[in-house]
Amino acid sequence: MFEYAKKLVGEAVITEVTNYLAKDPENNIEKLVNLASKLAIRQNHKEQIASAGKHLSNRDSHWHKLFVRTLKETHPKVRERLTVNFIINSVLFGIPKQYELAEKLGYAVPWAILMDPTDRCNLRCKGCWAGEYPKKNDLTFELMDRIVKEGEELSIFFYLFSGGEPLLRKDDILKLAKEHPDSVFHIFTNGTLIDEKFAEECADAANIVFAISIDGFEESTDMRRGKGTFAKVMRAADILHQYGLIYGFSTTYHRHNVEEIASDEYIDMLVDKGFRFGWLFTYVPVGSESDLEFMATPEQRAYVWKRIREIRATKPILVADFWNDGEFTGGCIAGGRRYFHINAAGDVEPCAFIHYACVNIKDTSLKEALGNPLFLAYQKRQPFNENHLRPCPLIDNPQELVACVKESKARCTQTVSLDAEKLADSLEAYAVEWGRKADSNWEETRAR
Ligand SMILES: C[S@@+](CC[C@H](N)C(=O)[O-])C[C@H]1O[C@@H](n2cnc3c(N)ncnc32)[C@H](O)[C@@H]1O
Ligand code: SF4
Repeated sequence: MFEYAKKLVGEAVITEVTNYLAKDPENNIEKLVNLASKLAIRQNHKEQIASAGKHLSNRDSHWHKLFVRTLKETHPKVRERLTVNFIINSVLFGIPKQYELAEKLGYAVPWAILMDPTDRCNLRCKGCWAGEYPKKNDLTFELMDRIVKEGEELSIFFYLFSGGEPLLRKDDILKLAKEHPDSVFHIFTNGTLIDEKFAEECADAANIVFAISIDGFEESTDMRRGKGTFAKVMRAADILHQYGLIYGFSTTYHRHNVEEIASDEYIDMLVDKGFRFGWLFTYVPVGSESDLEFMATPEQRAYVWKRIREIRATKPILVADFWNDGEFTGGCIAGGRRYFHINAAGDVEPCAFIHYACVNIKDTSLKEALGNPLFLAYQKRQPFNENHLRPCPLIDNPQELVACVKESKARCTQTVSLDAEKLADSLEAYAVEWGRKADSNWEETRAR
């Protein structure tokens, strides 16, 4: 067990970590934090650990509550495996190695890879970004296995699955997780296919975490995702909780649910249901039935920006907003800079929302794919805006996407080809309006 991590830090350290977690973890927080700090190579990691340590050891803080509840309610095997894989393999040692390799290669080595085991799905949610994929492609087990193997050789230990519905490929995902016990596998799922047998096997694999999609309370979720979906998500959460697995939520916000999903009531409900983290995605008009009127207005996006900071400051759940948190990631992380997307046909795309590619992973090694012209065009221009509240080359700086696609001669990967210039033109007015709002918010943030 933990063969890779033992090679990195020695058997004694791994024994120390697992002992702290197994015996009275609540009183071992300080020791765990000190150990992580000693292991950290990068100065920014040491600073982040020191800051997290302060919050975690304060027994009145919501972070302490989240940490203790997670430790108590998680299956011991899952708790140990995820701590070692995520903190040691993927972050403390993975990240410095990725930067070191990037220096040698001349292009970025990402921290995470998102892939779609299938583009088929059992639901048909309004505006789904995957709606214009052909719905007939699967990545074979052998191909996913090769991607992870080659990724681990590049010190990438964090793999996310999306789609389509990844759990249409349950058996292959479980097999992959078991064959790669040093990595973390994070599955975005609509939750409808989670059952006891699967949860039991995931607890046995111990290196799988879930983000279940939910778009508000029952009426809002079922409006976008189909009648009965909310009830199935609640059931999925109960099952995962029963087996001691870790799960978060994935919520898309749009014109009609912003106030609801940013409310205390919604977040409290998710905390009560055992969700430990959550991803917020603003609706992006790229999928079938793409609809500019469905997008959150700039005022609504600014409201979520403000609310997410309040939620993080008060609630025992870790919530991140893929667009509104650009200030913590130095802007857009896509195009291989810190992450990228492989769709179910194998096309190597900069991001789940950007359906253009120059290479297919079936024709190339992962290392070569990372140096493809579209990724280089991205990396040359990142950050796409000095204001990190305007990070995205699609919705915030649409002409940047056009420049990247033109320069790299990338092709559209959807069934109905999407001309980059037309797409950019349709988003220009939104980008300008958001730009005004974001610039005044950015001034405020910097002044603070
Ligand atoms: C495409 S789904 C695939 C995984 C799985 N079927 C699910 O529903 O979670 C991944 C996430 O992207 C979100 N999403 C889909 N289309 C989107 C769009 N156009 N803009 C923003 N988020 C979107 C979904 O709501 C979901 O939370
Ligand atoms: S959001 Fe997920 S569940 Fe809904 S249609 Fe898209 S892939 Fe399927």
